[in-house]
Amino acid sequence: MANKEEKSEGKESSWKDFIYNPRTGEFLGRTASSWALILLFYVVFYGFLAGMFSLTMWVMLQTLDDYTPKYRDRVASPGLMIRPRYLDIIVNRSNPEQYNEYVQNLENFLLDYNDTLQEQNLQCEQGKHFMQDDEEEKQVCRFKRSQLRQCSGLADKTFGYSDGQPCVLIKMNRIIGLLPKGQPYVNCTAKRDTPLHMQYFPTEGHIDPMYFPYYGKKAHANYVQPLVAVKLQLSEQDYNTHLTIECKVEGSDLRNNDERDKFLGRITFRVKVTK
Ligand SMILES: *[C@@H]1O[C@H](CO)[C@@H](O)[C@H](O)[C@H]1NC(C)=O
Ligand SMILES: *[C@@H]1O[C@H](CO)[C@@H](O)[C@H](O)[C@H]1NC(C)=O
Ligand SMILES: *[C@@H]1O[C@H](CO)[C@@H](O)[C@H](O)[C@H]1NC(C)=O
Repeated sequence: MANKEEKSEGKESSWKDFIYNPRTGEFLGRTASSWALILLFYVVFYGFLAGMFSLTMWVMLQTLDDYTPKYRDRVASPGLMIRPRYLDIIVNRSNPEQYNEYVQNLENFLLDYNDTLQEQNLQCEQGKHFMQDDEEEKQVCRFKRSQLRQCSGLADKTFGYSDGQPCVLIKMNRIIGLLPKGQPYVNCTAKRDTPLHMQYFPTEGHIDPMYFPYYGKKAHANYVQPLVAVKLQLSEQDYNTHLTIECKVEGSDLRNNDERDKFLGRITFRVKVTK
């Protein structure tokens, strides 16, 4: 018993000694000068690491260009997106609160396409690429929302959602320097036996070549992507079922049938309208 106590006492005093040993002046097993040396070593060591890091970072940044990305896909081909930003669109015609979410989403998206704003942009020559490689400040080709006509949200404030013929906007992702060959257009089909009537704006879903190439966020600041609006002309027989719609960009060299990437040059979404 006594032995045990002695032992634990001895342990305690060596523990105290470890923290601070008055005989040798050591703190946590080291003297003050030893601690100072260690501290100095780490300050120099981490200072050196930080210096190396900054230097390599700086060297790497020197090799980057402000205007074009350094690394790009081997074959650049754009993905498609839709607005409203939902792949499952459910519309209850008689419930404005329900479909207003979609209308608001479209309105917000179209703010950049405001006619007054777009008046300041250039009316480019249709049907050909608008090359401006040598200009420092790139100009932007005009795309007014009124070009989307019945899908512009101007005359019909609900984009067709209140009368059960909803509009969906299709946009292509921006890719710097992309020059599609041919005349790209958007073609949508409903995945069912009988075809579904659709109306395209601009006519035939054309994407004008004048909106290419895009020169990047910095050089081409106010650039707006061309849009294609699709109005689904549903009738009452089409209500209450999920319709699957696939839209593809066709008529050009843009890829639209990649097995792994379901958004490359195409997009599939679902629509259900109830009365
Ligand atoms: C659609 O909205 C109306 C009004 O809010 C409601 O009475 C009706 O049940 C809704 N229909 C469906 C299928 O949810
Ligand atoms: C476009 O912008 C102008 C001026 O900023 C504004 O008065 C007008 O209401 C806008 N139009 C639409 C359709 O948002
Ligand atoms: C749209 O796609 C469908 C199905 O792939 C095809 O049958 C139709 O001919 C295409 N329309 C146009 C205008 O290319």
